[in-house]
Amino acid sequence: MTIREINKDIFTVGAIDWDRRLFDELIPLPDGTSYNSFLIKGSEKTALIDTVDPTKEPEHIDNLKRLGIKHIDYLVSHHAEQDHSGLIPKVLEHYPMAKVVTNAKCRDMLVDLLLIPQDKFITINDGETLSLGNRTLEFIFAPWVHWPETLLTYLKEDKILFPCDFFGSHLATSDMYATHEPGVYESAKRYYAEIMMPFRNNIKKHLEKLSKYEINMIAPSHGPIYNRPEFIIEAYKEWVSDDVKNEVVIPYVSMHGSTRKMVDYFVDALMQRDINVKPFNLTKTDIGELAISLVDTATIVIGSSTVLVGPHPAAVYATYLANALRPKVRFASVIGSYGWGGKMLEQITGMLTNLKVELLQPVVIKGYPRADDFKQLNRLAGDILKKHKEHKLL
Ligand code: FEO
Repeated sequence: MTIREINKDIFTVGAIDWDRRLFDELIPLPDGTSYNSFLIKGSEKTALIDTVDPTKEPEHIDNLKRLGIKHIDYLVSHHAEQDHSGLIPKVLEHYPMAKVVTNAKCRDMLVDLLLIPQDKFITINDGETLSLGNRTLEFIFAPWVHWPETLLTYLKEDKILFPCDFFGSHLATSDMYATHEPGVYESAKRYYAEIMMPFRNNIKKHLEKLSKYEINMIAPSHGPIYNRPEFIIEAYKEWVSDDVKNEVVIPYVSMHGSTRKMVDYFVDALMQRDINVKPFNLTKTDIGELAISLVDTATIVIGSSTVLVGPHPAAVYATYLANALRPKVRFASVIGSYGWGGKMLEQITGMLTNLKVELLQPVVIKGYPRADDFKQLNRLAGDILKKHKEHKLL
C-alpha cells in the first residue's frame, strides 16, 4: 500500500487486501478489505497506531522501513483481534524498544492470544493522555465495538479520531478518503450489520460520548478515511436508532417449489399493500446482503421447506444468524411447507430468542399451496400491513 501523509507527519503504513473474500471464515468480503495502520511522528516520540493482518507482514514492515522509521516509542493497540494486532510480535522484533500501549483488558488478551510478554506493555486508563511532544494521544474506551477490550485514540492537536473497527468498512480501494460516499455507505452498512449490530446499544452510548469531541477526520482500521466525519456519524446514528422501515425481509429456501410458490405469492401480496419486500433465496444469496437488510427492516418472515422433521439447514443458518445479529426488527413470522409432518415451525421460532419481536400467525402448509393457503398468505400480508400502519411506517 502506498504510504500517504494524511496530515503533517502522520502516515498510512497499512495494507490493502484486494483478494480477501472471507473474514473469520464467516463473513463474505465482496470488495476485499484493508488493514489500516498509522504512523504518527511527534516532536519527541513516535507512535504506531495498530498493525495489520499477519498475512501482510512484508508490506507493513517495508512501509515502516521505507519511511525511515528507526525507532518506535509507542505501539498503540486498540483491539486484540488478529487483523490489527497479529503483527505486533513481529513489529516488536524489528523495533524492540517499542512499548505496547493499551488497556488492561486488551493487554491480557494480547498476552493470551499472541504470547506478548507482560513487560512490553504500558497500560492506560479511560481518558488518559500520552504526549508525543507536540502531539497528544487521548485514549477513549469503547467496549463492545465489537470486542470487550476495544479502545479508540483521539489525536488532540490534529482532531483526528482513530476508532479501529468502529466506523470501518471492508472495502479495498485506492481512494484514501471516502470520496465516493454512496459506495462507502453500502460497505460501511454491511460492516455495521455483520460486526457491530449486536452491540447497537453500546454503540449508541459511544456515539454520545464522541459527540463531545471536535473531529476533523476519522481514520478507521478498515476502508477509506472519512475527511467528512459527519457522513459516517450520521449514518451510524440512523442505523443504531430505534427507527425501522416499512419493509419485510424474507430469507427462504425451497426444495421442490412449494415454499417458493408461497414466497412468490406472498411477495406480490406485500407489494400490493405498498410494503417494501426483500426476498433472499438462501441457496443463492450473499449472506452479507441479508445482514444489511436486517439493519432497519420492520419485519422478518422466514420461509422453509421441511427436511426430515425440521427446517432446511439453510433456513436454520439464516435464522441463527438473524438471531445472533440482534436486529431491531419488530415482527416475525414463518411460511413454508411439509410433506408429512415435522416440527419446522417450532424449531425456527424457538431459535429467535434474542429478538424482541411479536410473532405473527405463520402459514405452514402441507404440500403445494392451494386456494385456502393463498388466502392465509393474504391474511399474513394484511396482518403485517396493520402492524406497520399502527407503528406509522406507512
Ligand atoms: Fe478488524 Fe475486530 O477486527
